[in-house]
Amino acid sequence: MDGAEKTADAILDRRFRLAGADSPALSRLRALARASLLKELERGLAERAVPGQDEEGVPSRPGSPESPGSPESPDPPAQPDPPPADAPLEPDLSRLMALAPPPLPDVFWEARRVLDDPQSGALEIAAVISKDPGLTASLLRLANSGFYGFRARVDAVSRAVTLIGIREIHTLFLGFSVLRLYRDMPGGAHFDMERFRAHSLACAVLSGLVAAQAGRIDLERCFVAGLLHDMGRLLLWSAEPGLAAMAAREAAVRGEPLALAENRLLRFDHAALAGEAARSWRFPAPLVAAVSRHHEPELHDEPDLPGVVHLADLIARALGWAFETQPVLSPLSRRAWDDLELNPDDLDEIVDAFEVQFPDYLSALSES
Ligand SMILES: [Fe+2]
Ligand SMILES: [Fe+2]
Repeated sequence: MDGAEKTADAILDRRFRLAGADSPALSRLRALARASLLKELERGLAERAVPGQDEEGVPSRPGSPESPGSPESPDPPAQPDPPPADAPLEPDLSRLMALAPPPLPDVFWEARRVLDDPQSGALEIAAVISKDPGLTASLLRLANSGFYGFRARVDAVSRAVTLIGIREIHTLFLGFSVLRLYRDMPGGAHFDMERFRAHSLACAVLSGLVAAQAGRIDLERCFVAGLLHDMGRLLLWSAEPGLAAMAAREAAVRGEPLALAENRLLRFDHAALAGEAARSWRFPAPLVAAVSRHHEPELHDEPDLPGVVHLADLIARALGWAFETQPVLSPLSRRAWDDLELNPDDLDEIVDAFEVQFPDYLSALSES
């Protein structure tokens, strides 16, 4: 075994410490993660740039070790912003909710009214979406990406609405509205927005691929659920940076998933917070369930959408596209895996497609 293999195995031992690799699915996932990591190590770790970072474009891939040849070692986040003087030691979820979800702009609610109205046609919907140039650009970028693979170029929102469908446009609209909101939310000096967006997008793309592999037809809903699944992390960093950093540091030092540390310290986790925010923004119930239950899909009555996101999140983290520099995977929910009716071999197709498609998504949607 050469040095790169030893390094990859040391990294993956930590990454899979809790999840294990005793089921055929996890063992396949670990093998795929190993192959991907070895490729990264051979390339010197620096080729997969996250657009929007420095002009050299050479930040290490999210989740990559700092340097080849050195296994991941405990690396707690930097010192957090100090908690506000009046911060309670044990914040309750309702108090945080009063601080956390920022209001969505008027154009959002105006568009929701039009999108919710069954009488609305493609032109009317296009007109209201077109009022927001950023959203328009995001929708057109996705319409022209490999996600749809339309042969002709889509250069008008009305055309995108007709081709993609009103319900699907509605779902994408929700996702992009919140994604753009991220840009305006301060996560604090120690919140790495580029890494967060890359993880969210990786989970979105993987949710779409998992859903397609499982034969689902609601690919947009899965994509958006993946895109938004961790928004509770940003909400927490934005409202309580000191507490968020404390939970992150505790998870890093103990080598455990963040949700576990949050639940112990705060008595709720980022998934519950995201669920509250999604409810307050009147998101459809399946999307609320997907974000609030992505770590515990088996606790929801209908675990399929939370299960898609749960698996996608696990794959993203296994491949190193995580928010943390040294992710530790949660165990795979047995029920979510069984409900998806996938074979371990399906993971090969999902990961292959992801590795081909993801760089395009990353550059196409990085400006969203
Ligand atoms: Fe999460
Ligand atoms: Fe996640």
